[in-house]
Amino acid sequence: MSKKFAYVQTELPGPKAKVLLDRRHDVVPQGVGYGIPTFVDSAKGALLEDVDGNRFIDFAGAIGTINVGHSHDTVVSALHDQVDRYIHTGFNVMMYDSYIELAEKIAALAPGHFKKKVMFLNSGAEAVENAVKIARKYTNRQAIVSFSGGFHGRTLMGMSLTGKVRPFKYEYGPFAPEIYRAPFPYAYRRPESMNEDAYTKHMLKEVENFFISEVDPSLVAAFIMEPVQGESGFIIPDKAFVQGVYELCKQHGILFIADEIQTGFGRTGKYFAMEHYGVEPDLIAISKSMAAGLPISGVIGREEVMDTAKPGELGGTYCGSPLGCRAGIAVLDIMEKEKLNERAAIIGEKVMDRFKKMYDRFDVIGDYRGLGAMCALEFVEDRESKTPAKELSNHILKEAHQRGLITLKAGVHDNVIRLLMPLVITDEQLSEGLAILEESIEAVLGS
Ligand SMILES: Cc1ncc(COP(=O)(O)O)c(C=O)c1O
Repeated sequence: MSKKFAYVQTELPGPKAKVLLDRRHDVVPQGVGYGIPTFVDSAKGALLEDVDGNRFIDFAGAIGTINVGHSHDTVVSALHDQVDRYIHTGFNVMMYDSYIELAEKIAALAPGHFKKKVMFLNSGAEAVENAVKIARKYTNRQAIVSFSGGFHGRTLMGMSLTGKVRPFKYEYGPFAPEIYRAPFPYAYRRPESMNEDAYTKHMLKEVENFFISEVDPSLVAAFIMEPVQGESGFIIPDKAFVQGVYELCKQHGILFIADEIQTGFGRTGKYFAMEHYGVEPDLIAISKSMAAGLPISGVIGREEVMDTAKPGELGGTYCGSPLGCRAGIAVLDIMEKEKLNERAAIIGEKVMDRFKKMYDRFDVIGDYRGLGAMCALEFVEDRESKTPAKELSNHILKEAHQRGLITLKAGVHDNVIRLLMPLVITDEQLSEGLAILEESIEAVLGS
């Protein structure tokens, strides 16, 4: 295939990257992982160039952080302007208007027919942590229920809530107390005897039974759910399941926290993926694509819930930094002007079309699924046994890197390739990236 955008002229790592990689191994612990063995030189839109002059199409977007594209002019000029005026005063010392403006805009966009308040933090895990703090304070209850396969970050609370042991929790206990994990539906791996409807009903029943076997609902402060499980391989729950859990929450005075850290800001074709399910979360944790790469996160919530904490109980030194807020405002501006929600839906259709063709071609693709532009391929040894093909997906990923496509793995069984490309990707770049993916599968299977 002749390529217009991807161009890899060296083995990875190339000579300059190799020097940096050796230095990295010497000084950075191996626990800090990396997806591709090279180092960036520049990035723009959906393209990345490394220090050896190799050019890649980016289907990873810094794990779903770059929905508006790398170094978008609007973001860059907002940041330059901010740096020239001031860098940091601490919102808890001297406040700035960009924090307010971003909070107002986000509150107006978030789902829920009630008055909302918004606070900002630094990272996704910190947003989750604060949503939990707020929920406990408001309900005066301690238990938090997360879901099997859910991922909520790498801090003690994030790890405790996360429903996948390796590599996130293994040998890092003890974990925070009063965390319970309910079962989450995984339609592709449901028992053969059940159709999707029956499976959803069964899973909801399991959540109800959970209140008998694990924790009394009167003690539960909140459920926390990803609208689409990200790290676990883009597992999309049935609408009836999400609504059922939401109803259970209402019935028992439990708050519903949506972890929209990976799904938010256009990824699924909406500002918030929970909009697909027609539920109105009491609290929403956001981060990643809200600020095009600046480290900022937030919690959005019902006014009365958010206002339970007393002055000084929430926040932190760098929370909602001026640079993050300015980038966040720029992102919302770009999303509206460039109609990125609509674009995500179109990208999703194109990807699913191509996935369908790949599925028809390769038996090792057990499932392909997507919501908007949050699409994934699940690899299996064969379609009957559905045995996860972890090594195969590793090889495909490596092959794709060498051919100039950056993409990521995910999955409860580490056998899923997920796509999180910038939504500003052009049709040509998208189709070249998908062709490289297909070519990589073909090359690995042929070898
Ligand atoms: C759904 C979800 N929650 C929480 C987090 C943690 O975010 P951070 O890595 O910024 O702490 C992530 C990160 O991948 C995520 O995808």
